[in-house]
Amino acid sequence: MLKLHKVSREFGSTLALRDISFDVPNGQFVVVIGRSGAGKSTLLRTINRLVQPSAGDISFDGSSVLNLRGDDLRRWRASAAMIFQGFNLSSRLSVLSNVLVGSSNETSQMRRLVGFYTRDEKLRAAALLDDLGMLEKAFQRAESLSGGQQQRVAIARALMQKPKIILADEPIASLDPLSAKVVMDTLRDINRKHGISVLCNLHSIDTAREYGDRVIALRAGELVLDAPISALDDSAVRGVYENAEEHPACGKVTSFCAPEFVTTVSSTDTNTRKQEQVA
Ligand SMILES: Nc1ncnc2c1ncn2[C@@H]1O[C@H](COP(=O)(O)OP(=O)(O)OP(=O)(O)O)[C@@H](O)[C@H]1O
Ligand SMILES: [Mg+2]
Repeated sequence: MLKLHKVSREFGSTLALRDISFDVPNGQFVVVIGRSGAGKSTLLRTINRLVQPSAGDISFDGSSVLNLRGDDLRRWRASAAMIFQGFNLSSRLSVLSNVLVGSSNETSQMRRLVGFYTRDEKLRAAALLDDLGMLEKAFQRAESLSGGQQQRVAIARALMQKPKIILADEPIASLDPLSAKVVMDTLRDINRKHGISVLCNLHSIDTAREYGDRVIALRAGELVLDAPISALDDSAVRGVYENAEEHPACGKVTSFCAPEFVTTVSSTDTNTRKQEQVA
């Protein structure tokens, strides 16, 4: 179980994340939505420790991941594998070599430097490519693949890390609809077959509804919705994407219309925050 407890992160006067708390039981597919700048990428990067929180705690299966250093940190980063919108492959390396990079977390620094991989590692990388329908491309340069194919290679590389959780930051944002479906289906297969939790940032509400078990919504760094995906109706979506300042009611800024998931931020809190930001 991944556990976030009151996690905050500031960048100068910007509160990218504010007191975020939630748990993700193993095997859940969680979609993360919110407007541009809401803090979605910062959330995933904080879990992976690419970004250090300013406050709060993050733990996995009962152990905090915030004080990990050296090899332990490297192991955690492998366990919480990231997938990016831009794929982040080495474009001139072969598909197979790109996938093998995922096994580097277990290999010694010397072997990593010379790019030496064992027969077992190569077989495993090939098997993963086969699973994802990419084996026939194994010896092509990554740059010669379509976006959807590159993203599947990136997923194979992530799986090579033997992750406990996959953190996908807008994995389909630069793909055509068909490739996007293949990539999302791939993530769902991995989630269901291997029981690996997925946290997936998305801008498409339809995709969120189709693939998520659960939705987490951020607005201006705050968690404003954490609910089963069935709660993501049109009024909830409006609550996430509309400007909070336009909806003051009775001294409160109401986030949602769906009463069971209403989260409120008092205007005092909002004003205090604005003053903090100005200061
Ligand atoms: N390294 C950084 N330095 C300064 N500010 C940052 C940094 N990273 C993020 N921010 C700020 O934190 C806030 C949240 O950014 P983040 O990238 O997490 O948003 P997002 O929800 O992923 O947006 P998008 O949908 O556009 O990707 C933004 O105001 C952003 O400008
Ligand atoms: Mg982002």
